[in-house]
Amino acid sequence: MCGIVGYVGEKKAQGFLVSGLKRLEYRGYDSAGVVTVSDDGEATLVRAKGKIAELEKKLSGLKRDDHVGVGHTRWATHGEPSELNAHPHRAGKIYVVHNGIIENYKELKDTLPQHDFKSETDSEVLAALIDSFYQDGKYELVDAVVQALKLVKGTYGIAVVSELSPDELVVARSGSPLVIGVGNNETLVASDASALVGHTKRAIYLNDGEVAVVRKDGIEVKTLNAEPVSAKVEEIETNLAAIQKGGYEHFLLKEIMEQPNSLAETLRGRVNVKEGTVHLGGPGLSEAELRKIRHLIIVGCGTAYHAGMLASYYIEQFTSEITVEVVIASEYRYRQAYIPDGTVALIVSQSGETADTLACLREIKKQGVRTVGIVNAIGSTIAREVDGGTYVHVEPEISVASTKAFTSQVIAMVMFGLTIAQAKGVRNTVLRPYVEEIAGLPEEIGRVLDAVNGDVKEIAKRYAKYEHAIYLGRDTAYPTAMEGALKLKEISYVDANAYAFGELKHGPLALVDDRFFEVALVPEGALYEKSVSNVQEVLARGGHMVVITNVSEFDLPVECVVKITTSVRLFAPLLMNLVMQLLAYYVTVEKGYNVDQPRNLAKSVTVE
Ligand code: G6P
Repeated sequence: MCGIVGYVGEKKAQGFLVSGLKRLEYRGYDSAGVVTVSDDGEATLVRAKGKIAELEKKLSGLKRDDHVGVGHTRWATHGEPSELNAHPHRAGKIYVVHNGIIENYKELKDTLPQHDFKSETDSEVLAALIDSFYQDGKYELVDAVVQALKLVKGTYGIAVVSELSPDELVVARSGSPLVIGVGNNETLVASDASALVGHTKRAIYLNDGEVAVVRKDGIEVKTLNAEPVSAKVEEIETNLAAIQKGGYEHFLLKEIMEQPNSLAETLRGRVNVKEGTVHLGGPGLSEAELRKIRHLIIVGCGTAYHAGMLASYYIEQFTSEITVEVVIASEYRYRQAYIPDGTVALIVSQSGETADTLACLREIKKQGVRTVGIVNAIGSTIAREVDGGTYVHVEPEISVASTKAFTSQVIAMVMFGLTIAQAKGVRNTVLRPYVEEIAGLPEEIGRVLDAVNGDVKEIAKRYAKYEHAIYLGRDTAYPTAMEGALKLKEISYVDANAYAFGELKHGPLALVDDRFFEVALVPEGALYEKSVSNVQEVLARGGHMVVITNVSEFDLPVECVVKITTSVRLFAPLLMNLVMQLLAYYVTVEKGYNVDQPRNLAKSVTVE
């Protein structure tokens, strides 16, 4: 969603601001802007609707040497995407960029009659409020910011610059991330550490309720109550290669193809094939605590929710001593759900910043329930607020549609389930087959991707003309089908929905006609014959079907069959998901849409 960058130092601020905003493009946005201030206090504010390329066009005649400035990519919440609604917002001598939502902006606006509002945004209200305390430099900028923030209800990550003090930025956070990059004679600010990669490896992650005065040679952090904070400088682990396309046309294809390596990173040091066991240190639960677990709540949004759904099917297979409940964060946060004793909550999030998931985490913690993060982004808010956790370590995922994170989230949760089962004394003969398959999965994923890529590309040409799709599966293939449908829907704008095969006759079968195509997952296993019957039901109604299966004998006359040759049985749906990822990718390429930044969507959903 919205992105923030800021610079104060010896170089030209504009260079970092624009390149930093480009790094944040993947988060999703619909307008962008930057302001820089010269040493003698002259500000240059440029904003544009649309892509950063539009902003660059406007900036091209305005090359400035200014050494301080802030920039922003906006994802519209209050007010349409337009130049006037784009950040930075000006009030008097100050300029503000803001991520998050000011919930009481209407009330605050009424107290600011002196400001001539130009936009419909809550962020301009915040700018005007800060300015009302700043009074054109009568007070210190940081004091004005603190006074204003004390009146604000909602979430924010902000960066503020003033024409009257062009050697500093003031930044603050509550609910929206802000990272300060510590450089040599320069300090950089961003809402996401990926903007800082290549500039510095040293960063301070602000905590909620903290404000910082940032100068080229110093950073002063304190709380809104003026208590000094000795901020910890942490290392940014991401390298440049991880956030570049590396020869692929799109990040999405790169990330799909990266899965053999990314999953290997998730497993590194955690699987002992010889013993048939897994070992996770991060959750920080003792054997005795693991033994006491009776119930798991898995919380996530979007793909993370689907990963939780799929993992729950496996975890239930390990032991009947644990029940698993998988919940959508935006729903769960407002439910009055009873949480039984012996519950642990798994908080699943690639970005570690999703607002609803974070809100659930906080609610659940309030009830004294132990929380374990399944997170990718290192140092993210969720990663820092959970009681313990397992990083999936898949490196940054740039494309909005999640692929490699899904695969690793599923396996990380399955490993957590295995860890509990081991502690509860479940026989090794029961668990070993899972562990052995997990250990072999990275290689098998690589093999399957190579084997199916060409065929799926061809199949996609045939199905790119459809506006509707139905994805079908049973058991572990059902949540996998849900993820497959989401992938197609979010990037190719096809109206794709998933159903459990058993639900076909309760409604979806009525949809089958020439406007639809169907993707059916038919894995080997106890329910194979039942799935085959369902495929026949769709065929009998003239369905246009693509079947993905690992059963070599499958021979029904469906339009297309993608046969996966593999020794993997338990986790075959994860391999089938690769086919669906590629199908979504190639259909989207065929349709000519923006693969990595689908319309209206954001990578990191930091507002409700
Ligand atoms: C957005 C992204 C999805 C992601 C979901 C949850 O909708 O576009 O790809 O699955 O948020 O994000 P999280 O970072 O919490 O996993």
